[in-house]
Amino acid sequence: MENISLTIDGKKLTTNEGNTILWTALENDIYIPNLCALREKSEPPASCRLCFVEVEGGVEPVTACTEPVKEGMVVHTKGKSAQRIARTAAELLLSNHPLDCSQCLKSRSCELLKIAKHLGIKLKANRFKKLERNLPIDDSLSIFTFDPNKCVLCGKCVWACQEQLGVGAIGFTRRGFKRVVSTYQDAPLAESRCTQCAECVKVCPVGALTFKATK
Ligand code: FES
Repeated sequence: MENISLTIDGKKLTTNEGNTILWTALENDIYIPNLCALREKSEPPASCRLCFVEVEGGVEPVTACTEPVKEGMVVHTKGKSAQRIARTAAELLLSNHPLDCSQCLKSRSCELLKIAKHLGIKLKANRFKKLERNLPIDDSLSIFTFDPNKCVLCGKCVWACQEQLGVGAIGFTRRGFKRVVSTYQDAPLAESRCTQCAECVKVCPVGALTFKATK
């Protein structure tokens, strides 16, 4: 595979042809906010809209997870337009995300908190109206809990359950604001095809899927 030279935020880098801006940046300790990208997935869903960057000579910001690197490319991860789009996407996610972070078992590793901090977003001073989802929490399994109110719809759990493991206990259902990750006919996980492998918990970037505390 051919080596490609490019510059990201002033840092001269080389990577393999076919790599995307997102993975090249992350592999070189340059953070670009992202929720839905998975290394193992050849076709990124590009649904979270958080990874916008600016490429010199480009007309508009592009999603770093879908944009392949090109020889001589010059990328800015902190351009004004790109950050404005990413900020809006993050604020929309926060507008229906519970902010009980001190109670959340994933608060120390929460990717949404990291993104808000990176983009300079104050959690409680959101310009969008707060919309509570009030969905029932699934506590039916012995090892983990699913709180759909905290789900950011990144799709990583669905990928792990369906494509990585071939179990297919969970998937996306409904449209628009009502879109959720759920089981067939919204059955509790304990009555679904879930094998309790917990791979979904490991890939969840927020507190939607959490291991139960061991007694
Ligand atoms: S990581 Fe690029 S759109 Fe989600």
